[in-house]
Amino acid sequence: MENVIDLSGKTAVVTGGSRGIGRAVALALAGQGAFVVIADRSDWKAGDESTTAEILRLGGQATSKNLDVSDAAEVDRTMAEIDQEHSGIDILVNNAGVLTAGSVLETSNDQWRHQFAVNVDGTFFCMRAGIRSMRAHGRGGKVINVTSISGLRANPGFAAYCSSKAAIVNLTRQAGIDYGAEGINVNSVAPGFVETDMTAIYDSPTRRALEAQTPNGRWAMPKQIADAVLFLASPLADHICGEVLAVDGGWLVGTPVRIESD
Ligand SMILES: NC(=O)c1ccc[n+]([C@@H]2O[C@H](COP(=O)([O-])OP(=O)(O)OC[C@H]3O[C@@H](n4cnc5c(N)ncnc54)[C@H](O)[C@@H]3O)[C@@H](O)[C@H]2O)c1
Repeated sequence: MENVIDLSGKTAVVTGGSRGIGRAVALALAGQGAFVVIADRSDWKAGDESTTAEILRLGGQATSKNLDVSDAAEVDRTMAEIDQEHSGIDILVNNAGVLTAGSVLETSNDQWRHQFAVNVDGTFFCMRAGIRSMRAHGRGGKVINVTSISGLRANPGFAAYCSSKAAIVNLTRQAGIDYGAEGINVNSVAPGFVETDMTAIYDSPTRRALEAQTPNGRWAMPKQIADAVLFLASPLADHICGEVLAVDGGWLVGTPVRIESD
């Protein structure tokens, strides 16, 4: 039988791929044959435990680049390097992100700017460089931006984070319609609550409350987000442009509170 997701011969760049969702995405893409470039600001798990080492151990192909996605010049330089070294970029996953808690009154100028510098500027800079490479090689491509349910609905006390993720939603839609005709599919995944270092800020009561508000009653594991990214990175998604795919256990669809009636 034909393997419907065969990414062999493709080069994929995953920003923020050293841990959490990005690590799971890198492993998933490499598992289907892609050569994965992990572009991250810091190697959280260095050496034998790094994402690159794990992919190589499993028989896949990977390398890493030190990259701060909020630095436009560094992004252009690094993406051009990847383009040259791999004869083009086929898949780009803009996953790098940071989360700062705070309502409008609790958010400082620096916090606001940092959220936007990494989450929005970073996505924009990498997307621009990635699409430039895809266009130059003329074989299309897939861009997947990691937004959040917080980009589609307000999340109490996260003014800057929610606003930055909302910007990614419309940036995705915009690029989705601008480049679809060139065979470059730009889409997003919007994860719900996922078990990663980022969500370690939630204490147990908050966590239980959030689980109770999720129709399927649980948080996602990073691999479940990676599976959705894999789908959008594959030819199965060739006709999907500018879409935002929620992977949230039904959180955006409705609350799991059932009103009993006689
Ligand atoms: N965990 C969740 O519940 C959840 C929910 C919705 C959306 N998301 C989004 O998913 C993405 C990944 O989140 P995660 O939970 O794995 O978080 P994480 O904190 O575990 O990982 C984030 C990664 O991004 C990297 N990064 C941060 N700033 C960077 C920069 N300037 N340049 C390059 N890399 C940088 C970090 O080094 C890290 O490897 C983020 O965009 C996040 O907003 C997460």
